[in-house]
Amino acid sequence: MNKTEVAAGFDGVAEHYDRLVSMNPGYLKHLSLSAQRLALPTTPADGSVRILDLCCGTGLSTAALRRVYPNAEIVGLDASAEMLRVAAGRLAGDGTTFVAGDATDPRASGITGEFHGVLMAYGIRNIPQPDLCLSHIRALLAPSGRACFHEYALPDSRWQRAKWAAVSSAIIVPLSKVVAGDTTLFRYLRDSVWDFDGPGEFQSRLKRAGFGEVQMLAMTGWQRGLVHSFVAQRGAS
Ligand SMILES: C[S@@+](CC[C@H](N)C(=O)[O-])C[C@H]1O[C@@H](n2cnc3c(N)ncnc32)[C@H](O)[C@@H]1O
Repeated sequence: MNKTEVAAGFDGVAEHYDRLVSMNPGYLKHLSLSAQRLALPTTPADGSVRILDLCCGTGLSTAALRRVYPNAEIVGLDASAEMLRVAAGRLAGDGTTFVAGDATDPRASGITGEFHGVLMAYGIRNIPQPDLCLSHIRALLAPSGRACFHEYALPDSRWQRAKWAAVSSAIIVPLSKVVAGDTTLFRYLRDSVWDFDGPGEFQSRLKRAGFGEVQMLAMTGWQRGLVHSFVAQRGAS
């Protein structure tokens, strides 16, 4: 599987996705942490804070945003129609809008206006042209806006790399066979983490895309040291 086939791969596992990630201790708590780390106002007038959830999947990250920002205008975007179908069911009636499209250039998918916050959870690693995507995300932000990239970034530490090797190959891939009946997508996901930037490289990538201050914040539990919230201020143009 290559990165252009990922969304189709998610179409195939959409009905099993929530069950699979429910077996990952901390998955939902960590999404809530990243939503909080966007640090947007939580009690403004309805709709005056706008948030974009890129690669929203089945809406677990969108629901985390909704819990933290109950009055915000939230838009979720994903390229998988089946993942979006589950998301729309999860957040039915709460005012969240979902858009089908490629996260590389959200404006090309009809996303308009400025956003105070962008959350991209487990998304940027799957984008074939990440630098282009980051520059488009930055351009979507209001001047004081910030983006939070909730993502795996393996450090050089031998312990952390051994942990990922063990968890991904001995737990995640076999579980995907049991729950979804096929391992193709989850073998890709395992390998994409090995191929993606380390923490320092990703922070440099954000800086090159023009973001201002970038903070890297840790997760808890077994994902500590593997998954991080990278909170990036839009910065001056
Ligand atoms: C691991 S899921 C994450 C879903 C959600 N953010 C969460 O944390 O539960 C990754 C999502 O990225 C989507 N995706 C992958 N490539 C994409 C692209 N180029 N444009 C938009 N969505 C994409 C997939 O369809 C999938 O729903």
